[in-house]
Amino acid sequence: MPASVVLGAQWGDEGKGKAIDQLAADSTWAVRFQGGNNAGHTIVLGDTTLKLHQIPSGVTSPNCNLILGDGMVIDPWVLEEELDRWYALTKERPEGERLFISERASVILPFHRLYDSADKVVGTTGRGIGPAYRDRIERVGIRFVDIPYFLDDEAKVKETISRMNKQLDSVGVSERVEKEDLVSHLRWILERYGGAIRQTGRMIHRALEEGENVLLEGAQGAMLDIDQGTYPFVTSSVTSRANATHGAGIHPGHVENCFGISKAYTTRVGNGPFPTELPYEEGPGNHMAMVGHEFGTTTGRPRRTGWMDMVSLSDSHRVNGYTGIVLTKLDVLGGLDELMLCTGYELDGQTVDYMPTSCEELARCKPVYERHPGFPALSEEEWIAMAELSRSEGQGYEVLPEEALSYVRRIEQLSGIPIVSIGVGPDRRASIASRGGPFDTEPEVTTF
Ligand code: GDP
Ligand code: IMO
Ligand code: MG
Repeated sequence: MPASVVLGAQWGDEGKGKAIDQLAADSTWAVRFQGGNNAGHTIVLGDTTLKLHQIPSGVTSPNCNLILGDGMVIDPWVLEEELDRWYALTKERPEGERLFISERASVILPFHRLYDSADKVVGTTGRGIGPAYRDRIERVGIRFVDIPYFLDDEAKVKETISRMNKQLDSVGVSERVEKEDLVSHLRWILERYGGAIRQTGRMIHRALEEGENVLLEGAQGAMLDIDQGTYPFVTSSVTSRANATHGAGIHPGHVENCFGISKAYTTRVGNGPFPTELPYEEGPGNHMAMVGHEFGTTTGRPRRTGWMDMVSLSDSHRVNGYTGIVLTKLDVLGGLDELMLCTGYELDGQTVDYMPTSCEELARCKPVYERHPGFPALSEEEWIAMAELSRSEGQGYEVLPEEALSYVRRIEQLSGIPIVSIGVGPDRRASIASRGGPFDTEPEVTTF
């Protein structure tokens, strides 16, 4: 299993953090290849909940090296907070020891956050992601490797400050970037992280040559991809498999597995069309939000909720070629009388089996549903006990309630993708793996 890619198959927050944590025990590298601290990846280990924004989710396995890769935009101040939280929990300082920052990654500066605060359309996370990628594409951004050269170039510093202030002005933000601040911020970044900034692509390449297992950890999800998602209501990076290796600085031939992480229903945070969306205040949409604790890990905003959408999963599979689906949060659907699977859309009187490219058309799509009987609600402990029984007796999915199993099998049949693991709770132990599949391992016990 040389390189494995883990991607969000929907609109983000599918449970990528938990999947990476589970796979990291058998991997020596976990690599973030795009995005920044717009991501919020959660790992639950007993009483401890970790919320990671930039540190790869393999951090929980002490033998796993951690890379913030070439394709990322990185907020050094948020990274420091994350590293401090990790130190408080474990007394480990991984930076420069097993955590490395790519020379090619771009720096998110306070300017980018200020500029992002003017967004009124997309409902961004406000973390400066789009503006940092804009600078990169315009070839005026600062990568980690550029900092010393930038600081030595007085004219460039002046030019940059003037550009930033003009841009803030143009979107009605009154704060200004001062030269002393920019210079002292960049000096601090070098002091704080100098020992951890490396040519990380070469490190990953070497590890793969030596037969090590590498995890490529996606952020956001297929429908938030800048090229293939629900533009313009997307993030500013390529979230897809094609960028997993590119953004890590290695070639695509290394990839053997590509796991698409999908909830057993759908959520979306931020603006944009969402065909299977349900009313939030009542009924199944409210059930999903409350039972599933559907609040953004990064911003705390309520996530919009809706039924499982096989049309979007099929488009997401077309782009990413999943070798397996990790179906998460099945437990959350327990207690609903009936479950719906969206198998097509009705668009202006025609049934279609794809997502239209324009958001105006996508907003007019009405879901076509297939109905399935529900299954009873169980407690967190009961689901964990079921997962443990499945492992100890080698039963795979046969331990699931009949209606839950038939819902899962139907998703597998409609998508044509094997489901390799089913999430039945937030905890590392609360997963039921397909027999003999890549997730069929005994969960390690980690205590802090
Ligand atoms: P990510 O961004 O894809 O890593 O996902 P988030 O961490 O933002 O959101 C997923 C949320 O669902 C987190 O609170 C997880 O702890 C939780 N979660 C993950 N898998 C499951 C599951 O199978 N069942 C339940 N109930 N919660 C889960
Ligand atoms: P993880 O990795 C869910 C959404 C924002 C907004 C749009 C653009 O935890 O799955 P941005 O700040 O990226 O410019 O915002 O994308 N978004 C996410 N939604 N999960 C995420 O990350 C997201 N990262 C960005 O809500 O709609
Ligand atoms: Mg998240």
